[in-house]
Amino acid sequence: MQAKSPFESKVSIVHEALPEDANAQGNIHGGTIMKLMDAAAGVVSRRHCRKNVVTARVDSLEFLSPVYIGDLIIVKAVLTYTGRTSMEIKVNVESEDMIMGKITATTSAFFTMVALDENRNPSEVPPVLINSEDESRLYEAARIRVMEQRSRRLKLLQQS
Ligand SMILES: CC(C)(COP(=O)(O)OP(=O)(O)OC[C@H]1O[C@@H](n2cnc3c(N)ncnc32)[C@H](O)[C@@H]1OP(=O)(O)O)[C@@H](O)C(=O)NCCC(=O)NCCS
Repeated sequence: MQAKSPFESKVSIVHEALPEDANAQGNIHGGTIMKLMDAAAGVVSRRHCRKNVVTARVDSLEFLSPVYIGDLIIVKAVLTYTGRTSMEIKVNVESEDMIMGKITATTSAFFTMVALDENRNPSEVPPVLINSEDESRLYEAARIRVMEQRSRRLKLLQQS
């Protein structure tokens, strides 16, 4: 399979935070932000492999600062790593205060998406093509994360 650059699949999604996204104090629900992040990771991974995908894992999900009704939620997602059938997507969320124009880092996480064939079995994905030092750094960090996750899963399987 032909390797593909993360540039070909990266996305930015913008959502205006509305009252139905919030609690009574006007804070946007974490679940609303997570859903937008999952959707963005889904688009990136499907663009990369051009197959259906499922979310297998979310790592290092952190809510760094609150988002309020009326803010713009800006979700940026980029492919960092590919295995045989899995892809890791880095998702960063910023909020923008529409009156002051202030942009704040809000949330970040790594999503592992697995490509599926027509029988819903894991299916091969194109390798990621690394073009820059930044992409190379993200790839190496992801590779180490994936190895650690895999050995933890194997240990859990052996214990059960
Ligand atoms: C993800 C899923 C398809 C993997 O199926 P499986 O039978 O375990 O498949 P495999 O063991 O062959 O693993 C396939 C790939 O997924 C990766 N993987 C599986 N479980 C994983 C997990 N918990 N975390 C990270 N990666 C995982 C494997 O490392 C492998 O990657 P590779 O091919 O790049 O090396 C299956 O566990 C599943 O369907 N889970 C539910 C997904 C879901 O419903 N998500 C929510 C809605 S989208």
